[in-house]
Amino acid sequence: MTDGALPEIRRWTAEHAAPGDVTLWAPDGLPEFRPGADLAGILAEALTADPHGLTDGDVVVLTSKVLSKTEGRIVPAPTDPEERDALRRQLVEQESVRLVARVNRTLITENRLGIVQAAAGVDGSNVETGELALLPTDPDASAAALAADLRRITGARVAVLVTDTMGRAWRTGQIDMAIGAAGMRVSVGYDGAVDRQGNELLVTDVAVADEVAAAADLVKGKLGARPVAVVRGLGHLLVDDDGNADPATSTDLAGSGSGTVAGSGSSADVPRTARDLVRDGESDLFRLGTAEALAQGRREAVPARRSVRRFSDAPVEPELLAEAVADALTAPAPHHSTPIRFVRVTGQARVRLLDALRADWERDLRADGHTGDVLARRLGRGDILRECPELIVPFVDDASGAHTYPDERRAACEVTMFTVAGGAAVQSLLVALAARGLGSCWIGSTIFAADTTRRELGVPDTWRPLGGVAVGYPAEPVPARAARPAGEAYLTIS
Ligand SMILES: Cc1cc2nc3c(=O)[nH]c(=O)nc-3n(C[C@H](O)[C@H](O)[C@H](O)COP(=O)(O)O)c2cc1C
Repeated sequence: MTDGALPEIRRWTAEHAAPGDVTLWAPDGLPEFRPGADLAGILAEALTADPHGLTDGDVVVLTSKVLSKTEGRIVPAPTDPEERDALRRQLVEQESVRLVARVNRTLITENRLGIVQAAAGVDGSNVETGELALLPTDPDASAAALAADLRRITGARVAVLVTDTMGRAWRTGQIDMAIGAAGMRVSVGYDGAVDRQGNELLVTDVAVADEVAAAADLVKGKLGARPVAVVRGLGHLLVDDDGNADPATSTDLAGSGSGTVAGSGSSADVPRTARDLVRDGESDLFRLGTAEALAQGRREAVPARRSVRRFSDAPVEPELLAEAVADALTAPAPHHSTPIRFVRVTGQARVRLLDALRADWERDLRADGHTGDVLARRLGRGDILRECPELIVPFVDDASGAHTYPDERRAACEVTMFTVAGGAAVQSLLVALAARGLGSCWIGSTIFAADTTRRELGVPDTWRPLGGVAVGYPAEPVPARAARPAGEAYLTIS
């Protein structure tokens, strides 16, 4: 390899557009296909008998319903609308691996092939009234077999696309898309290509198989019993079994583009099955419907909170803290009161408070008999509040709405009631922080040093500290919490 030369990669030196005119037609007179029909034989005869004939570089596009019929993917169904609908639902469930969205009674699901569409492709159109059609089990394999058979019978080097009609996110209306492909590139990536103006095309990756599928529907239609179309003029897109440009059809390729489009690695990487067009759920930005995504977010909001004890240096946006506090104040509290106070402690106030808490704690530990390393280690546990980017000290104010009682018992119960309300608000704060991507850890220390805390922060005597909350962006990703059954923590007494 000399300087500047490309290593062993195939260069795709043209764009996806046809070098000349594209023509397409859909022959009339095809029979109603039934299970076991000799599809290749029937198509070969019909397509070669058509005045256009069949020639190298043609793309044969057939609606998947034809394969559903010839491959026995037709299910007998009751004609009674209610029973038919019940069976349809059962089939949709059977054909689906994942629910993506629900719109009224329509389910958008992902099927075993990774295809996301309404009702998993289960369809009652263009079949007998006592039937329902399922999608072919492996449309790429069916396309490959049909392409090989058509080539063998007719001698024409053709590609095959299998299509289905699908709705699209963000757009009304449906178009046909490729769910099976053989013998042609299904997409043409322009990564690294430069246009005439010198702009680099970074993200353009044209799904040519879907474009051809949609175009073919313009002549196939839905009602005219024309389930097959032929598209001529796209020979430059055909590839052989190894993914190389088909020499029999692609002579127009080299240098025909005004810009240069670099190939995406070796010919083995050339996308040439419909499966290559499927973006899996994990990497798709819209992997769930809006309502489903919101529901999942709500379900996960509480368990997503975990104690985070190591934070990154990234500063926490003050408005996020204020938002989380506002959310936390929606926690339930007795007597329609709002007895909770959250104090953001920063700068010298924080240093003073933590030094004073440490002094109190050290005094207690020494009184317990701890010295030396043990003492230092125990005191070190308080460092999280020094090292976290933000510290919030929650209080419950006993003068904000608590009732007074003449007897000690009820007075103590009232204190408990306000304390638990404080706990609810702090937990709400932690959940609200987690929902904003912020980690937190609730540390109990100020509860053990209430006077010191009040003195250092200069807050009223009626404010009872409920610990301290360390806040910051987690230093490492917070792992999802494993599902845990309620177990013995959940009882029913009747
Ligand atoms: C009132 C209270 C005080 C806590 N004090 C401390 C503490 O001093 N140090 C600490 O590391 N964690 C403290 N925690 C956090 C618990 O250790 C933590 O919630 C528990 O281990 C469960 O883990 P999780 O929060 O990730 O579910 C405290 C939690 C509560 C509710």
